[in-house]
Amino acid sequence: MEMERLQKVIAKAGITSRRKAEELIMAGVVKVNGTVIRELGTKVSPKDLIEVNGQVIGKEKKVYYLLNKPRGVITSVSDEKNRKTVVDLIDCKERIYPVGRLDYDTTGVLLLTNDGDFANILMHPSHKIEKVYLAKVAGIVKGDTIHALENGVRLDGKLIKPSRVKLRKIHTKQNTSYVEVSIHEGMNHQVKRMFQAVGFEVLKLKRERLAFFDVKDLKSGQYRMLSPKEVARVYQFK
Ligand code: URA
Repeated sequence: MEMERLQKVIAKAGITSRRKAEELIMAGVVKVNGTVIRELGTKVSPKDLIEVNGQVIGKEKKVYYLLNKPRGVITSVSDEKNRKTVVDLIDCKERIYPVGRLDYDTTGVLLLTNDGDFANILMHPSHKIEKVYLAKVAGIVKGDTIHALENGVRLDGKLIKPSRVKLRKIHTKQNTSYVEVSIHEGMNHQVKRMFQAVGFEVLKLKRERLAFFDVKDLKSGQYRMLSPKEVARVYQFK
């Protein structure tokens, strides 16, 4: 049976970060099988009963949702300014959180779960999960800009080369262009910054695909549960 460090198990249950979990253990509010544990290195198995502040953890059913994120909602579990979060949009009793981030004004594919392993698989850079974005930008994009993006732009000292850049549409009258970009990283504001680096402002951004998930069948703000097959497919990336 797989043994794991207590703080990791608490963090994976989605209650708190690993560092906070360590603080909780040291504060004496964590029990394993009824006994207070203050040792940080303690290993536990899935059979152990873990309580934090009297609440049993890790017994929650694993749930998985795909949301077509609307604009004007923050990708977070809670917000100090009391703005609406993506978690508020999902009607479920489990403690779910978003897998990765989309900006307040970005729309499209967003997964939410209470399964830390599942989230890690999708977010870990080594798995190079593909994300496809459609950006509406101000101005008319031409071949030189597409080539500049294809050749890669430097963000935070790292060369970012999209696996695919495609000019989808130009609206001459509106003076806007639609460009598809596929990336494998998940840096903050990455797509907006990539366009900024080649002299274009992103007016609208939609994540059309993440791995094999798309939101073609979901209206803005709509969501659905993942099928067991879809969950299993994600575990195959591991
Ligand atoms: N890139 C961005 O700039 N914003 C997002 O929300 C996602 C990717």
